[in-house]
Amino acid sequence: MGYSTREAKVQDVPAITRIYNQGIEDRVATLETRLRTEDEMKDWLLNRSEKNKVLVIEDENNNVYGWASLNIFNSRCCYSGIADISIYIERQMRGKGLGKILLTSLIKTAKEQGFHKMVLSTFKYNEAGQRLYKAMGFREVGTYIRQGMLDGKWVDVTIMEKHLLDDVTSK
Ligand SMILES: CC(C)(COP(=O)(O)OP(=O)(O)OC[C@H]1O[C@@H](n2cnc3c(N)ncnc32)[C@H](O)[C@@H]1OP(=O)(O)O)[C@@H](O)C(=O)NCCC(=O)NCCS
Repeated sequence: MGYSTREAKVQDVPAITRIYNQGIEDRVATLETRLRTEDEMKDWLLNRSEKNKVLVIEDENNNVYGWASLNIFNSRCCYSGIADISIYIERQMRGKGLGKILLTSLIKTAKEQGFHKMVLSTFKYNEAGQRLYKAMGFREVGTYIRQGMLDGKWVDVTIMEKHLLDDVTSK
């Protein structure tokens, strides 16, 4: 089965909502615990600037299995060249290479939109996420200790970055 990526459309909102809620339920990806409604995710999708794209990954039958987004890192205009990213793959489809396809496409899109850097936050124990990001050239910046609470337990959050203009991290 072949997979391809494209920009998300409003018709993708049910799939985007389902996949995001799986990520919330699984407690590996986000400090959010409140499941989202389709109306909330529709607002999220439609009220974004042109450069803050959302991509989906689908199979040849147009079944959507994941989404990824270029989010605002910080609303101050001095940070407008930095994209904070999210990526979620359907629970049953994880570990099959879809994350790599989708993130490759998101990196290309970020470059096209003029971002110079992508950043993300990830839990230390999110092994699939950490391996995906490292494989795609993200470097670990550091870890916030006790950055949030999840089900009554403190969670440490690791920050990672990928430079898009050139690899300044090795200089
Ligand atoms: C994290 C996530 C996006 C990765 O996408 P994926 O399609 O599952 O990952 P891929 O199959 O493309 O594999 C990417 C890398 O992760 C590794 N990997 C995948 N699943 C893994 C697992 N369960 N445990 C350990 N490593 C795993 C792969 O081996 C590969 O690493 P490699 O290149 O060093 O071999 C996906 O698992 C997901 O949506 N998880 C839940 C939501 C989430 O955690 N989002 C990220 C929040 S920071």
